[in-house]
Amino acid sequence: MDLQLTDKIALVTGASSGIGAATARLLAAEGADVVVGFQRNEQGAAATVEAVRQHGRRGFLCRLDVTDAGDVQRAVSELDLESRGLDILVQSSGVAPVGDFDKVSAGEWARVVAVNLNGPFHVLQAAIPLLRDGAAVVNVASVAGQTGVPHQAHYAAAKAGVINLTKSAARALAPRVRVNCVAPGMTLTEMGQITATALPPDYAQQKLLLQRFAEPEEIAACIAFLASPVSGFITGETLNANGGRDLR
Ligand SMILES: NC(=O)c1ccc[n+]([C@@H]2O[C@H](COP(=O)([O-])OP(=O)(O)OC[C@H]3O[C@@H](n4cnc5c(N)ncnc54)[C@H](O)[C@@H]3O)[C@@H](O)[C@H]2O)c1
Repeated sequence: MDLQLTDKIALVTGASSGIGAATARLLAAEGADVVVGFQRNEQGAAATVEAVRQHGRRGFLCRLDVTDAGDVQRAVSELDLESRGLDILVQSSGVAPVGDFDKVSAGEWARVVAVNLNGPFHVLQAAIPLLRDGAAVVNVASVAGQTGVPHQAHYAAAKAGVINLTKSAARALAPRVRVNCVAPGMTLTEMGQITATALPPDYAQQKLLLQRFAEPEEIAACIAFLASPVSGFITGETLNANGGRDLR
């Protein structure tokens, strides 16, 4: 299927690694120019930009800490000058520390919510003037936001917020802009490795119909679908990509 992304311009946050990097590469392979947002892993982000360019597309590096309002504003004004509008915004930044429910400090709770929920709100709000007619926003939530997680309560609560933020934003920006989210299950990235330390070794076999974790490229494919005009009649929705987690 042609995703009709030729000459679209995308901003992907958290694109120095994992799902964000895979998404940036896939969007470029499908014809889009990509602004690669990163917070600290500049080397990873540069590798993503290089991959975008190898697809013959324009790739831009953009330092963007989603928790820093000043940084968000600066990044958006630079984008305005450089790309003159966005067709796609993918919010893949996130952190998922593991911590016992009764030991999470107020500071840690606030930090995790700031990155995973406040950040996507601030970036989306700041990006509104840049979003072209027909633009698509895809937020990356998590199955954790649907089930709750005893050892990642802050993360799960923030991701539940992202699912709801997606619906509010879809209502607020319709019909000009579509807003959806993907809720991945366990995915083989740096973050997935951290989360896996808190799970029993046979988790995938016991809990998932497909009996394995996702590759980042499989989640990127879901994001690209929602970012593309081929999903043009879908907004405010959550696409579950969890290997059959809900059915087992
Ligand atoms: N890996 C999983 O099992 C899994 C499951 C469900 C949902 N997710 C979600 O997928 C998204 C991508 O995660 P991933 O698995 O690719 O992990 P990852 O750790 O590879 O990617 C997360 C990215 O977010 C960036 N980031 C962290 N704090 C930031 C900040 N303040 N500002 C900007 N960027 C920041 C990191 O530098 C990193 O590049 C996250 O939103 C995560 O919550 C992951």
